Amino acid sequence: MTTIPSLAPASSFLRACRGEPIEQTPIWIMRQAGRYLPEYRALREKQSFIDCCRVPELAAEVTAQPIERFGFDAAILFSDILIPLLAMGIPLAFDPGPKLGKLIESREDVLALRWAGADAGLPHIRPVIRAVKERLAGRVPLIGFAGAPFTVAAYLIEAGGSRDLAKTRAFLARDPEAFLSLLEFLTEATIDYLKVQIAAGADAVMLFDTQAGWLPPHLFGGIAATWTERVLAGLPKGTPTIYFALAPSTGQIEALRHVRADVFGIDYRVPIRHARAVLGDDRGVQGNLDPTVLLGSPQTIVTQAEAVLRENAGRPGHIFNLGHGIFPDTPLENVALLVDTVKRFRAGPTGGSS
Ligand code: CP3
Repeated sequence: MTTIPSLAPASSFLRACRGEPIEQTPIWIMRQAGRYLPEYRALREKQSFIDCCRVPELAAEVTAQPIERFGFDAAILFSDILIPLLAMGIPLAFDPGPKLGKLIESREDVLALRWAGADAGLPHIRPVIRAVKERLAGRVPLIGFAGAPFTVAAYLIEAGGSRDLAKTRAFLARDPEAFLSLLEFLTEATIDYLKVQIAAGADAVMLFDTQAGWLPPHLFGGIAATWTERVLAGLPKGTPTIYFALAPSTGQIEALRHVRADVFGIDYRVPIRHARAVLGDDRGVQGNLDPTVLLGSPQTIVTQAEAVLRENAGRPGHIFNLGHGIFPDTPLENVALLVDTVKRFRAGPTGGSS
């Protein structure tokens, strides 16, 4: 058996997760493995998306591609927030958006849901994570992830993407009890799924709540934040956690205070300064450059990236990222320029650049 080299203790990403002071802000970007990379597109000509998630050598290759090209400070497991549906007996395809073979429309549908268990229903996870770790060879930590319960519930009800989440919100209004049963089911499944990722070698875990911003502020706390908190409470201590809610309004950010994540992913519409003021400086922040900036001029990229770094003003616990996923038509040289800009930047006592 091959032994996996242990991670450099000096990983800037893990140190930032723990709020330790570091010289250079770590950077990775959401959807860093994917269609903007020619090497990913070339591989996808021959392999399906689901196979890239499930076959260890393919997942290891795709996860490592952005690390090897750009030198990001963390890798994120190549998978999708909907892959656990395969352990619920729900047919799933990607085209490239997710297509679900079954909808959750009623209380009966919720009660009929079954979780096969992460190991039995998703037997690829452990071998995939082992292969990814071997490929990364201790160069950078690996982030495991899952969808947060509300966001996965929304995908089950809408059967894919939606413009305004009307069906999900109507389900909640019509039958709150059944909706809470669905969240409870997904919470247990997510804890099981993330525990297996951690046991197999994930160095940190992230919860994506990209649909939570559709909830009104009075429901965001009880529906999105509370169930996320339950997932986090069910995980072993010592592995850093990141929670990313997309598009939270001011009232919603207040509710995040009660979520015990080590790091909060910040949407590109929320100033880091504001998030810090509400959440407190003892929590880490991750973000939050608008991904469309990477479609702009080199000058715009440098100016806007430095503006994000200055906004954090040199406080410990900042992980540079985009405020949402990178667009598939992003030029490679712009990503390289962004990484270079972040790696060169040194926050002075007033948060200035060197
Ligand atoms: O590099 C990474 O960030 C890791 C892999 C990753 C994917 N999806 C791969 C993927 C991660 C972390 C996700 C999360 C995800 N998936 C979310 C939450 C974050 C977000 O971006 O909003 C959501 C809502 C999904 C569901 C999903 N999967 C959608 C809506 C789509 C289609 C739209 C799109 O961006 O293509 C997918 C497919 C998907 N997931 C692709 C990739 C690389 C494209 C598939 C292909 O190669 O054809």
